[in-house]
Amino acid sequence: MSARAAVLAGLGGYLPPRTVTNEELSRRFDTSDEWIRTRTGVERRHVADPGVSTGDLAVEAGHRALKSAGGGQGAVDMLIVATATPDQPVPATAPDVAARLGLGTAAAFDVQAGCSGFLYGIATASAALTAGHATRVLLIGAEVFSTVLNPGDRTTAVIFGDGAGAVVLRAGTADEPGALLAFDLGADGTGKDLITIPGGGARQRSTGRPPQPDAGYIHMRGQETFAEAVRRMGQSSQAVLDRVGWSADEVDHVVGHQANLRILRTLAVHLGVDQERVVSHIQEAGNTSSASIPLALADAGSRGRFRTGDRLLLTAFGAGLTWGSAALTWPGLTPE
Ligand code: ACO
Repeated sequence: MSARAAVLAGLGGYLPPRTVTNEELSRRFDTSDEWIRTRTGVERRHVADPGVSTGDLAVEAGHRALKSAGGGQGAVDMLIVATATPDQPVPATAPDVAARLGLGTAAAFDVQAGCSGFLYGIATASAALTAGHATRVLLIGAEVFSTVLNPGDRTTAVIFGDGAGAVVLRAGTADEPGALLAFDLGADGTGKDLITIPGGGARQRSTGRPPQPDAGYIHMRGQETFAEAVRRMGQSSQAVLDRVGWSADEVDHVVGHQANLRILRTLAVHLGVDQERVVSHIQEAGNTSSASIPLALADAGSRGRFRTGDRLLLTAFGAGLTWGSAALTWPGLTPE
């Protein structure tokens, strides 16, 4: 009998309707469409309207993933929201999202692993499903990064965007199309200062001093982050390929965290995977952190890029530092 595994059963994505083009940013900052395209691959990003928060985007994406999975909200017994921009420090964003999605008393909690949140979430969901703690899990990556962008910082303004992506995972077996077959997760806190939002937590409040004016904004050391992203996603991807027993040639699609198109291209070179197999959604959405992988999956899936049984490698890197990768086959579902 085939081993127990989590199986991808539903997929949906939601981008808020308002877009900000590179041209618009060029009027606000000393930058240009040409610089942004060539250095990052981003052409536009979607931005939530005032008053619209992470939970609101999560509900939209959650509805879509549940519809893609054939409905049946009642059958979901766990909701995980992966986010670095929660609605508030307490309570977590997930319980409110669960209530708004009509999930009854399903277990609901947040995962915070920076841009690796979706990979940490999918590994956690898979563990719950294979251990028998849940039969169907809704995992949503959702971010409103526009709320933590320093209006004076062109580096972060050009790459980040808002959005949410979601998957439904069910308990199944490893021989089914859609099965999650291998994982790799890692972290290195010695690199914690590369990407931070320093304010808003106990560390800052414990000083008894008022926060710096920019403490609520994201600070990123871009070049070092770039190098670490390539290194860590490369090592983590290789670990997953070794675990699942696939050669680079046997990977049909690499769906990496959409941080920078140059990172994804360099990663493909390091892994020895053809560039045509790199899935890219960054042109449309920028870096949506925890939402970027499910959004890229939903976009490529709805364009008919994947065939049932195709081999997919997911990989992400983010604040922490954190990273994670997973191998799965494509189930042949229709994303919403
Ligand atoms: N427009 C024009 N010029 C710019 C801009 C801009 N928006 N931003 C920086 N520059 C300038 C710099 O000032 C610098 O000028 P100088 O040479 O005169 O000093 C020059 O461009 C090069 O700067 P770099 O920082 O080296 O630019 P780089 O090519 O590294 O691109 C970027 C910056 C896009 C941020 C890149 O480093 C990157 O993508 N880093 C990785 C981001 C990432 O992976 N994040 C993942 C996790 S995020 C999370 O977990 C929340």
